[in-house]
This record gives sequence, C-alpha cells and structure tokens, in this order.
Amino acid sequence: MRAWHLRGAGFTVLMAASLLSYPSARAATPPASSPAPKAAAVRVAPASGPIFSAHPKTPALVTSTCSACHGLTGISPTGSFPDLAGQWEPYLVKQIRDFRDHKRADPMAQSIMWGMAAMIPPAKISEIALYFASQKGPAPSPENPKLVAAGRALFMGGEISSHLPACMACHGPTGRGVPPLFPRLAGQHQAYIIAQLQAFKSGQRANDPHAIMRTIAAKLSQADMTALAAYIRTL
Ligand code: HEC
Ligand code: HEC
Repeated sequence: MRAWHLRGAGFTVLMAASLLSYPSARAATPPASSPAPKAAAVRVAPASGPIFSAHPKTPALVTSTCSACHGLTGISPTGSFPDLAGQWEPYLVKQIRDFRDHKRADPMAQSIMWGMAAMIPPAKISEIALYFASQKGPAPSPENPKLVAAGRALFMGGEISSHLPACMACHGPTGRGVPPLFPRLAGQHQAYIIAQLQAFKSGQRANDPHAIMRTIAAKLSQADMTALAAYIRTL
C-alpha cells in the first residue's frame, strides 16, 4: 500500500510539473481578439457594490501553482487531490500550517504538500485560504446505492457496539462542517476521504486535536471507509 502511494505520488508530481508550465505559457500569449478578462471582473452590480466582493481576486500563487492540482476555483480534477472550494477558512489555514510543520505526514503530504506549504509566505496563508473558502463547494454526485445506504447509516448514527460516534455530530448532518474546527466533507472525492481515514488510522496524519479522528478511524474497517466515502460524495 505504502509503495503504491509513493509511486502514485511520483507520478502526480511529474504530471503537476507539466501542468504547472501550462497556465503561464497560456497567459503569455493571449489571443489578440479576446476581451480583457479584467473588464468582466470589475463590473459593478447596481446597489450592492462590486460583484466580485464575494469572490476575492485570485491570489497569484493560486494561479501559478495551487491550481495545477486543486483547480483554479478549488475543484480538483482527480481524487488524489482534495477539493478546497467551500472549505472553511480557519481549517484551511490550520492545514497549511500543519503541512509546513510536518504534522500531516502521509506519503502524499510528505512528497507534495510539505514543499507547497513551505513556499507560501506566512503573510499570504490567510488570503489563499479565504479565496478557496469563498468558492462554491463541490456539487453532490450520485454513487452506488448500496454503499451510500451503508455509509449514510454510519454517518448519521455511528455504531453503538463499537462506540463509534456519528460523523454528523461534528461534521453536521449535511456534511458542511462547523467552523473553526470541523471541516466540510460534503462532495469531497472518495479516494481522498479514504486516504485520510487510513492516514488517521495508521497515525501518519496526527494533526487532529485530542486525537479525535485517530480514535474514530481506528474503529473503521476498509468497507466502512468505502461506504462513508461514497455517502459523503453524494452530500
Ligand atoms: C502537485 C499537486 C499539488 C499542488 C501543486 C498543491 N497541492 Fe495541495 N494537496 C495536494 C495533495 C496530494 C493533497 C493531499 C495531501 C495528503 O494526502 O495529506 C493536498 C492537500 C491540500 C490541503 C488540505 C485539504 C484538506 O481538506 O485537508 C490544502 C489546504 C492544500 N493542499 C493547499 C494547497 C495550496 C494553498 C497550494 C498552492 C500553494 C497547493 N495545495 C498546491 C496536492 C497539491
Ligand atoms: C468528535 C468530533 C468528530 C467526529 C464525531 C468525526 N470527526 Fe472527522 N474530523 C474532526 C476534526 C476536528 C477534524 C479536523 C482535524 C484537523 O484539524 O486536521 C476532522 C477531519 C476529518 C477528515 C479530514 C478532512 C479533510 O479535508 O482532510 C475526514 C475525512 C473526517 N474527519 C471524516 C469523519 C468521518 C467519516 C466521521 C464518522 C465516522 C467523522 N469524521 C467523525 C472531528 C470529528
């Protein structure tokens, strides 16, 4: 499993490297006839101030770097990379600091996000977090009904025999989370959710206050994780 992760991470780094050169190459040669993109962004709504007030300007580092894996608006193209759109700002700030301080130490964190977090100037962390927090979160998508039903039961009710608490107690009945501590899960990629539950279970991710998620993940089987991830994707 570990070896697979490491190979996977090597591949994504290569892929991201090729993606990274793409936006700048494109920006350097705008089609002659295209309207200036800024014109639309500064249009002013009638009485309620600028339209973009709810959508802060895209930070330069997001355009040049983060977007290669997380998408320009925080909706990522694959389950190896989490969606950041609609996630709570304080949670995003904490995660960036935790990567920087090496408190999340699963293979994907080590091989990719430790370096990414280290290159974010500390003064820019909250601007970047706020930008992703203010984007529209991932849309729900339908999944295998059997898995969804099993996942829903655990998410909403936990499991009395193993003292597993209901996920909704902290992440909310619709998976939108509760700031500042409890992250949004709704609509997140299944592969990412499963990878994080495994990382909590193995202790490679040890940044949860009072070991809350490590204690919970220790009670989950692989089948539980798969079912929970399917249900979360439908939220
Ligand atoms: C090469 C791909 C790649 C790039 C570029 C990248 N990330 Fe990530 N990001 C990842 C991966 C992979 C993870 C999951 C890490 C793990 O499994 O612990 C992640 C996780 C995160 C998380 C945690 C999300 C959560 O729900 O806990 C945040 C926040 C984040 N990245 C922010 C950023 C920011 C900000 C940038 C730009 C400075 C960036 N990333 C650039 C691949 C990337
Ligand atoms: C007692 C509160 C609590 C309960 C119950 C709980 N969680 Fe969490 N969960 C947290 C906290 C706190 C974090 C954030 C840890 C951190 O700061 O990185 C978290 C983080 C997560 C993450 C990582 C999100 C990301 O974007 O990386 C996943 C996945 C997750 N929880 C799934 C679940 C599932 C599935 C259940 C039910 C089986 C559950 N949680 C129950 C408190 C809880």
